[in-house]
Amino acid sequence: MAPVPSFPIKVGHIDDVQELRKTEPTKIPQRFVQDMSERPKLAAMVPSPNDIPIIDLSKLVGSDRDEQGRQIMQLKTACEEWGFFQVVNHGIDSSVVENIEEVAKDFFMLPLEEKQKYPMAPGTVQGYGQAFVFSENQKLDWCNMFALGVEPPCIRNPELWPSKPAHFGETLEVYSREIRQLCKNLLRYIAVSLGLKGDVFEEMFGEAVQAVRMNYYPSCSRPDLVLGLSPHSDGSAITVLQQGKGSSVGLQILKEGKWVSVQPIPNALVINIGDTIEVLTNGRYKSVEHRAVTHKEKDRLSIVTFYAPNYEVELGPMAELVDKKNPCRYRRYNHGDYSKHYVTNKLQGKRTLEFAKIEPETSA
Ligand code: OGA
Ligand code: NI
Repeated sequence: MAPVPSFPIKVGHIDDVQELRKTEPTKIPQRFVQDMSERPKLAAMVPSPNDIPIIDLSKLVGSDRDEQGRQIMQLKTACEEWGFFQVVNHGIDSSVVENIEEVAKDFFMLPLEEKQKYPMAPGTVQGYGQAFVFSENQKLDWCNMFALGVEPPCIRNPELWPSKPAHFGETLEVYSREIRQLCKNLLRYIAVSLGLKGDVFEEMFGEAVQAVRMNYYPSCSRPDLVLGLSPHSDGSAITVLQQGKGSSVGLQILKEGKWVSVQPIPNALVINIGDTIEVLTNGRYKSVEHRAVTHKEKDRLSIVTFYAPNYEVELGPMAELVDKKNPCRYRRYNHGDYSKHYVTNKLQGKRTLEFAKIEPETSA
């Protein structure tokens, strides 16, 4: 089973954001109003050009060796300087991408009673609801989530796989198979970009863990007061994020102290480095803090896949990436223990990774 907390949790009443939006379109309950320092300061944001790197996967798999080398260098720069990039020409059929979006959207549009047949229990991360809420006074994100463990089979909770919309399960299976292959390919290129053997991660990860989270962000009358999703880094090795067609801009990453928006590109997938790769590479490729903001008129859907090692795997910086100039910065730990630590703490920037740091920093 996926990790669950072993302590009792009292989260109080959690409003369903879609229902709130429907019944009282301009009301923002106090629990959703962020403290001053956390508010997204949207008015001050300059529209950012799309400088998040774009990787053309067809050039990486192609037969032109020079081109391949150039793309590997671009991937390396993207991982070192951004921790985020978008992949285009990823080879996943557009019907697969469209179908998952459709079932995800259809699921969120079901009546609340139907969705509540698959509740996310307090302190857990699978099912419909709000994850990472652990107390009655914690601020809430302007988001409805539906999350499922996919692989290996022991993390699946079949009771949470919905019977509606029709074909949800098959669609997710097909999608997950394709995304899994993409993750394996990307990890292979990431290994090569580090000068390592291509299959190093696949061998190390064992039967990899794959989970999906669908995030639905209804429009919000006061996007300046709320967050769609609080700042965090992902606990995965890598994450694949699909933004719904026609969605508003909402994903932002923290780059040199500034929040930069990720502009959606049609048919592209957003990839980011998670905490596991940061630890394995001894901080060469860092997981990057990111968040989601909301939009005054438009809703937004994202479908996010987390790909990580098996819970049994012991992790720590790889010997090849530790030397006198780059001393070991993270301890060795069991990935299952890290996952448990991740899902039993609220999202708080990169705080969670202090679990693994040899010298914990006091601020993120
Ligand atoms: C996540 C995430 C951002 C988004 O689910 O971990 O970062 O844009 N989502 O939905
Ligand atoms: Ni994330």
